[in-house]
Amino acid sequence: MKKLLGLLAALAVMLALVMSVPSIRTASFWQAFVEPGPLSTAHGFLQGDCSGCHVSIEGVQAARCISCHANETALLQRQPTAFHSSIETCVECHREHEGDAGLRSAMDHQALATLGLRLLARAPEGSEARLLYSHLFAHGPAGSASAGTAGFANTPQAQLLDCYGCHQSRDRHEGQFGRECGSCHRTAQWTIPEYSHPPPSSTDCAQCHRAPPSHYMGHFEMVSKRVAGVEHANVEQCYLCHQTTSWNDIKSVGLYDHH
Ligand code: HEC
Ligand code: HEC
Ligand code: HEC
Ligand code: HEC
Ligand code: HEC
Ligand code: HEC
Ligand code: HEC
Repeated sequence: MKKLLGLLAALAVMLALVMSVPSIRTASFWQAFVEPGPLSTAHGFLQGDCSGCHVSIEGVQAARCISCHANETALLQRQPTAFHSSIETCVECHREHEGDAGLRSAMDHQALATLGLRLLARAPEGSEARLLYSHLFAHGPAGSASAGTAGFANTPQAQLLDCYGCHQSRDRHEGQFGRECGSCHRTAQWTIPEYSHPPPSSTDCAQCHRAPPSHYMGHFEMVSKRVAGVEHANVEQCYLCHQTTSWNDIKSVGLYDHH
């Protein structure tokens, strides 16, 4: 009872304080209770126009976002982000009222896969939309999620995505490892912490590495072989000239400076 009285007294003091400050006695005081946080800097100009994004009952509508963002040419022309033209919802990846980092949030492959599967299920058989959404996936909507996996930690849905369709330009292996990037890579980062490279004594280099075009031209005879001081080698014998540390670290020569 004593505790409750104390609490009531504290509340009365707080209320008195609040009502004595004119600026928070007004509408913004009440708005603070329904406003979950300040808008991002980019959308700050909409501070006075909540309906820019909100529709009273339905909540946030992607159509409002799209009406302002439909002409993002750079976004739509870039292979990894071209999916924006047909994805239809936004808040899964772009948060508002959570500062600038929330709005520019990192890629969420799981959300993309879930959205894609949902849109695909809705699209009528044989429709253009169906074709569009099926391009997001390498293994078909009903395809086995375990296809090609080597026990890596992608979620089953994310594992269905066609990594190559969006990340072709990031293929460090120049096609040598095929298009199933997801069988070795997670979606969170390209590096693979548990991977260890074959030792420098390996003679299998050419199984995993492709020589640059210069190695198949006169340059190989005239420069590469002379620099390495190895007269009898064919291009596929990388290990005779190269180290595993860097392609410019030439055996018994050291770091080769192109300039
Ligand atoms: C640039 C677009 C944008 C503007 C402008 C905007 N909001 Fe939001 N708001 C959002 C998004 C996005 C969410 C998260 C919705 C979700 O997670 O489904 C949200 C969520 C909310 C929520 C949580 C409840 C809900 O509907 O999910 C409230 C309350 C809210 N906003 C109030 C406001 C008020 C008040 C204003 C005007 C000062 C405002 N918002 C202006 C985009 C906006
Ligand atoms: C009334 C028009 C309008 C609406 C509605 C709107 N935006 Fe924006 N948005 C803008 C403008 C203007 C910018 C700033 C563009 C710039 O700086 O190039 C912006 C910036 C952005 C950015 C880039 C942020 C950055 O830091 O670079 C994202 C992402 C974004 N909006 C997503 C959304 C999403 C998601 C919604 C719906 C919830 C939405 N927008 C609603 C006009 C709008
Ligand atoms: C599956 C996640 C995902 C969904 C869904 C999504 N986006 Fe994006 N969006 C991204 C990513 C990732 C980027 C690139 C961010 C970067 O490079 O900083 C991006 C970039 C943007 C940009 C450009 C930001 C800039 O800095 O120029 C805008 C604008 C944008 N999105 C708007 C939207 C709108 C509008 C929708 C809804 C139709 C939407 N996004 C749906 C993930 C998503
Ligand atoms: C529909 C397009 C799309 C598909 C499919 C896709 N990604 Fe991505 N991915 C993106 C976008 C967008 C980004 C954000 C970076 C950017 O804009 O280039 C990204 C980022 C990444 C990153 C970098 C993460 C970081 O923060 O540095 C990795 C790793 C990645 N993806 C792996 C994969 C793998 C593995 C698959 C297949 C299982 C896959 N992605 C499928 C669009 C896609
Ligand atoms: C057979 C397995 C395998 C496949 C398939 C594969 N990779 Fe890799 N990739 C690796 C290994 C192993 C590394 C070295 C990882 C490390 O050093 O942490 C690597 C490294 C990379 C890196 C550099 C990481 C860094 O920042 O150092 C990128 C980018 C990359 N791969 C992209 C791709 C893309 C895109 C695809 C699909 C077209 C793909 N990979 C397919 C095994 C694979
Ligand atoms: C089983 C496959 C495999 C074999 C065999 C292999 N490598 Fe690699 N190596 C990789 C992968 C995967 C990467 C990381 C992705 C990338 O950078 O291409 C890598 C990276 C490298 C790099 C670093 C490239 C950079 O720019 O950072 C060098 C140098 C290299 N390997 C040299 C060699 C040499 C020399 C041999 C033979 C003695 C060899 N590798 C054998 C798979 C292999
Ligand atoms: C006879 C020795 C020799 C052999 C065999 C050889 N290289 Fe080279 N390679 C060199 C030398 C020397 C350089 C640096 C000077 C130059 O560009 O010729 C070089 C440069 C490179 C570079 C860097 C090119 C650049 O533009 O930075 C790569 C990558 C490379 N080699 C990969 C390979 C691979 C992969 C193989 C095997 C499939 C291979 N090399 C076989 C001697 C060799």
